Amino acid sequence: MEWRFPKGFAWSCATSAYQVEGACDEKGQSVWDVFTHRPGNVIDGSNGDVACDSYHHLEEDVQLIAAIGVSHYRFSVAWSRVLPNGTINDVNEAGVRYYRQLCEKLVENNIEPVITLYHWDYPYELEKRGGWLHPDAIQWFCDYARLCFDKFGDLVKTWITFNEIWMCAWTGTVTTAGLSDQSADKASRERCARAIPYLVGHQMLLSHGRAYRIYENEFREKQKGQVGITMSAKWREPASDSPDDIRAAQDGLCWQLDWIAHPIFSTCGGYPKRMRDRLNDLSINEQRANKDSILPEFTDEECNVVRGSADFMGLNYYISYKTRHLTEEEKNSEELGWLFRDADYCDTVDPSWEKISGEKSWLHNTPWTLPKILCYIRNKYNNPKVLITENGCADHPEEVVLEDNARIKYCEDHLKALHKAITKDGCNVLGYTLWSLLDNFEWTNGYTMKFGMYHVDFNDPDLRRTPKKSVSWYADVIRNNGL
Ligand code: BGC
Repeated sequence: MEWRFPKGFAWSCATSAYQVEGACDEKGQSVWDVFTHRPGNVIDGSNGDVACDSYHHLEEDVQLIAAIGVSHYRFSVAWSRVLPNGTINDVNEAGVRYYRQLCEKLVENNIEPVITLYHWDYPYELEKRGGWLHPDAIQWFCDYARLCFDKFGDLVKTWITFNEIWMCAWTGTVTTAGLSDQSADKASRERCARAIPYLVGHQMLLSHGRAYRIYENEFREKQKGQVGITMSAKWREPASDSPDDIRAAQDGLCWQLDWIAHPIFSTCGGYPKRMRDRLNDLSINEQRANKDSILPEFTDEECNVVRGSADFMGLNYYISYKTRHLTEEEKNSEELGWLFRDADYCDTVDPSWEKISGEKSWLHNTPWTLPKILCYIRNKYNNPKVLITENGCADHPEEVVLEDNARIKYCEDHLKALHKAITKDGCNVLGYTLWSLLDNFEWTNGYTMKFGMYHVDFNDPDLRRTPKKSVSWYADVIRNNGL
């Protein structure tokens, strides 16, 4: 059997700024620069100060990308590299030049740049002023987005505003912002920590919507590009057929995907009803008035700005879960984050699922759930255009470094499943992006998890890159437009 993809299908690979660029002293600080330098935050005590030093390996990296034969390359702009203090008052021309050159070199090699504006590395100067909770936060993002559209838009046809709002609004604000070690009194800290992800998510959604309208009104006619947003997407199977677990699995999907997707992609806009109802009920139970729900409201104007503000949905897809409801004890326990207690669900992994990337990793291979989430999106949001913006896995720690057979198998399994979703289920998928081009700084896992198609020797002062087996495998897939 052959798995050929539709004509014009986009084949891509990806990185993000903080994970690969290095050159931290040639830009303003981001929250990740600060967070990684606090002891105990990153598993191996490492940071992205140098990472793959992609900032100084531009030509070489473009050649590595070209050697794979991809039609697209997804990377992110480091906000604090182009705007060191986060605001438009101070533009770092060298940073602008770097991204322009990167785009130019890609285009010379027939590779379309796909730019993510925000992949978690928020400017620290803005964070100090209150970050996403500051009343000017939306304006700051819009100024930054407009600058990027203006400086790079003649070369870029595909934009992604945010990478995984769920992840940065939820995990990001409680880890990088260091809420866990604030010394305010515990009860008010808890209340605050509980509401912040919803408030941050709200600000990000508005920032996305307003940036989309800026592109639409000021740039689209001339540049003819498309603007989308990337979702965290993990499928949830109910852990049993009990009504409580079925409900919990639906809430898991709702709290992660629909929280962000519904305001943008649904016909009515605004937050999903089940989320609104649940959080309102909680407010009443806790004797707060309905209007004090921790889920903010959009005004009519805001709702209209956000609704329909994406030309495609980006999807980062790695794994799925078996999801169950919480016991009464768990609901009151501080072990579980607030978001899960609000939504009343807990994610577990089926022990029979194929472990991948080693015993300790969070990855497992469940490709058959990819069509499920794509069909869920198709049914719920009227079959929007979807771009798989990330899929891939880390090397197995016991594998010979350059023989990344596990990566090839994982990606092959997912491509076959994706093919089914497109050809049998009629899902409107535009392309596939393999994460990642290079081994790189894997957030709190430091350099212990290696997602690259190219091995990077982090002990070599030149950070030598060497292709793993997956490079030629992926090149073949692209050449054949499938398997
Ligand atoms: C993130 C990447 C990350 C990958 C693997 C994704 O959710 O966007 O930055 O490296 O997961 O953990």
